Amino acid sequence: MDFKVVDEIIDKYKDPSGRILGILEDIQDTYNYLPKEVMVYVSKKLNVPLSSLYSVATFYSFFNLEPVGEHLISVCMGTACHVKGAPELLESLKHLLGIDVNEVTDDGKFVLTTTDRKFSLSSARCFGCCSMAPVIRIDDRIYGYVKIKDLPAILKEYGWKEK
Ligand code: FES
Repeated sequence: MDFKVVDEIIDKYKDPSGRILGILEDIQDTYNYLPKEVMVYVSKKLNVPLSSLYSVATFYSFFNLEPVGEHLISVCMGTACHVKGAPELLESLKHLLGIDVNEVTDDGKFVLTTTDRKFSLSSARCFGCCSMAPVIRIDDRIYGYVKIKDLPAILKEYGWKEK
């Protein structure tokens, strides 16, 4: 792990307000997730308890604590999306991506990655655009009013190939 990169990120944030959030965002942009060894390093370097860093990281649903694939697909499981068919979208995405349904953990929070590491699939809380329910997000892009029949075309935008 190259901690020089982490040092450069930390050096960018001199102002204490919003510092932790900014640092964690930049770390995620660099590694695509928040590696544990980097979290430990940042904790020591800033003299901030590791638990405080993880409190921030777990509060915001856009942080990934596990490595993710090239594209991260998040299915909103908030109330509006749930009643408009989010569970069915999730099942269909698992099927299309070839991810085993049984790999989903009991707590409902998960990140499942395809064996080629091209796609990761996760659930998320409300994205704040409930009027467009059901909603999925791929990387930074939001898709609203998603129907099961739309999914193959959406996935193809990211290089998915039908098997
Ligand atoms: S419940 Fe899905 S965007 Fe709000």
